[in-house]
Amino acid sequence: MTEHKRDNLFARPLGKVPKFVFDRSVVDIFPDMIQRSVPGYQTIINHTGELADRFVQQDSHIYDLGCSLGASTLAIRERIEGRNARIFAVDNSQAMLDKLATILQTQPSDTDTQLITNDICDIQITNASLVVLNFTLQFVPLARRSELISCIYKGLNPNGCLIISEKLHFEPESLNTLLTELHHQFKRDQGYSDLEISQKRDAIDKVLMPESLSTHIQRLKDCGFKSASPWFQCYNFGSLIAIK
Ligand SMILES: C[S@@+](CC[C@H](N)C(=O)[O-])C[C@H]1O[C@@H](n2cnc3c(N)ncnc32)[C@H](O)[C@@H]1O
Repeated sequence: MTEHKRDNLFARPLGKVPKFVFDRSVVDIFPDMIQRSVPGYQTIINHTGELADRFVQQDSHIYDLGCSLGASTLAIRERIEGRNARIFAVDNSQAMLDKLATILQTQPSDTDTQLITNDICDIQITNASLVVLNFTLQFVPLARRSELISCIYKGLNPNGCLIISEKLHFEPESLNTLLTELHHQFKRDQGYSDLEISQKRDAIDKVLMPESLSTHIQRLKDCGFKSASPWFQCYNFGSLIAIK
């Protein structure tokens, strides 16, 4: 297994904690950060490959929106050789895409992969058989989410698939608190200190805005998806699949 640089971004007292951004300081520690922060992350990435195998159509497009270092893109590429498909890996962090470009050079594939530096709300989606939003929609301003999902729906081919993986909010508040505490225990078990957990929470406050499963499902239905369902959940993280 590849050794990743350890995430210690929040290990020292920072005083006033700056808001979280996906800049160069995050790039090298990102794989370690997401593995040790998101319960079920690797399962979701592996199953993104499995779903790609089932849904990616010959000669179609795949969109990995908020691709970061391309974990989903790489899992998809492993499963769709020979389909003449093209992956568009999109992120608005140039630092992430610069690193992804070097990673892709070390992992050849017959699937053409284009890196696009842009806001995922400002791109055109066409001829898509699979669109992936793995832990990205949660960073999109609430007011822009319906427009984005609607644009994805329009760009998907019939029977095309959208995967959305997110941190989730629960009601009543007591349930949300329980699942948040279980998540924090998971992070402690992964080696994060209470200081790291609390400073990271301050850094992502109002940057990462989780919604409930019912809000996600309702939006998907409102945008026209014929079916939408969670397929995975661990504590307050989950993944949904929606089919056009
Ligand atoms: C948590 S990471 C996603 C992780 C990645 N999908 C994976 O599974 O490994 C969120 C990514 O979304 C990107 N991002 C957030 N908002 C965005 C936007 N509006 N447009 C494009 N990229 C965005 C960030 O730069 C970051 O790289």
